[in-house]
This record gives sequence, structure tokens and C-alpha cells, in this order.
Amino acid sequence: MKKTLFMSLICAAIVCAFGLATLYAADAPADGLKMEATKNPVVFNHSAHKKYDCKECHHTWDGAGAIQKCSDKGCHDNMDKKDKSVHAYYKAMHGKGKLSTCVSCHKDVAKAMDKDAKKALTSCKKSKCHP
Ligand code: HEC
Ligand code: HEC
Repeated sequence: MKKTLFMSLICAAIVCAFGLATLYAADAPADGLKMEATKNPVVFNHSAHKKYDCKECHHTWDGAGAIQKCSDKGCHDNMDKKDKSVHAYYKAMHGKGKLSTCVSCHKDVAKAMDKDAKKALTSCKKSKCHP
């Protein structure tokens, strides 16, 4: 009798854990995601950034709820290129600071690359970000 109760508890725990995992597991969207906050959208591919933790970029995510867009209200929603605050969209993508931005990380990883690859990943024009 005791054994059956124990077994059912184990089963309940497994079902529970599995249920939670499927409830909370977040999948990165398919490649070709357009970052449409700006006039010339940058195409972002999650597949090229698989080795990083989601929170490296989605730094306000609690690991469970919905993932926000960079330009959501109250986040990086100021489209003025000259804005220097944390709300500046341009700075969030190009700046350097405590958190990685597209450019700060690309500059870092490009150090180990040859000239052409470095240019492709870090320059403003004719780059992988701004073709
Ligand atoms: C190198 C940075 C980076 C990493 C790592 C990353 N993402 Fe993203 N993700 C982005 C960017 C940039 C966008 C586009 C956001 C926007 O358009 O404002 C995005 C968008 C998303 C969106 C769509 C949000 C929306 O409302 O359109 C989801 C969902 C998402 N990512 C999930 C994930 C998950 C899950 C992981 C980890 C497995 C992950 N991402 C890892 C940068 C990243
Ligand atoms: C924490 C580091 C990191 C951050 C942050 C990051 N990247 Fe990358 N990105 C990489 C690495 C590493 C590669 C792959 C380089 C290679 O091996 O070719 C890459 C490659 C790319 C490529 C070329 C591959 C492709 O998918 O076409 C694009 C475009 C790109 N990143 C856009 C972005 C954008 C836009 C952001 C900001 C929203 C961003 N990345 C943020 C590390 C980063």
C-alpha cells in the first residue's frame, strides 16, 4: 500500500515537472526576424546566436513569461539617435556598457577573425547587419 502511494507521488511529480517544462520552455523564433523599429529593419537570426543564453540579450526576461521586444514601451523606445539614455534604441544596439549590445559583442568576437570577416560583422555599411 505504502509503495503504491509512493509510486503515485513519483508519477505526479514527473507529470508536474514535465507540464511545467512545456509550459515555460520558450522557443526562439524562426530565423529572418525583422527588427522593425527602424526604417531599414535589421534581420536577426537566432540560429547564429544559439551559444548564448537567452538572457544575454533578453536581459529583463524572468525565464518564464513572455519575451519583450527591445523597443517595447518603457524599454529602448527612444528612436532619437542622439539620445544617450538607456531608453535609446540606437545605443542599445551599438553602445558599450555593462550589457552586451550587438556591436559590443560583435567587436569582441571579431577580434579573432580575419579582416573581411571582421568587417562583415562590425561595419556600418555592407555588413551582415546593414547589408
Ligand atoms: C544575441 C541576442 C539574442 C539572444 C541570445 C536571444 N535572442 Fe531572442 N531576440 C533577439 C532580438 C534582437 C529579437 C528581436 C526583438 C525586437 O524586434 O525588438 C529577439 C526576439 C525574440 C522573440 C520575439 C519577441 C517578439 O515579441 O517579437 C522571442 C520569443 C525570443 N527572441 C526568444 C528567445 C529565446 C527563447 C532565446 C534563447 C533560447 C533567445 N531569444 C535568445 C535577440 C536575442
Ligand atoms: C553576445 C554576443 C552577441 C550579441 C549580443 C549579438 N551578436 Fe550577432 N553574432 C554573434 C556571433 C558570435 C556571430 C557569429 C559570427 C560567425 O561565426 O560568423 C554573430 C553573427 C551575427 C550576424 C551574421 C549571421 C547572420 O545571422 O546573418 C548578424 C546579422 C548578427 N549577428 C546580428 C546581430 C544583431 C542585430 C544583434 C543585436 C540585436 C546581435 N547580433 C547581437 C554574437 C553576438
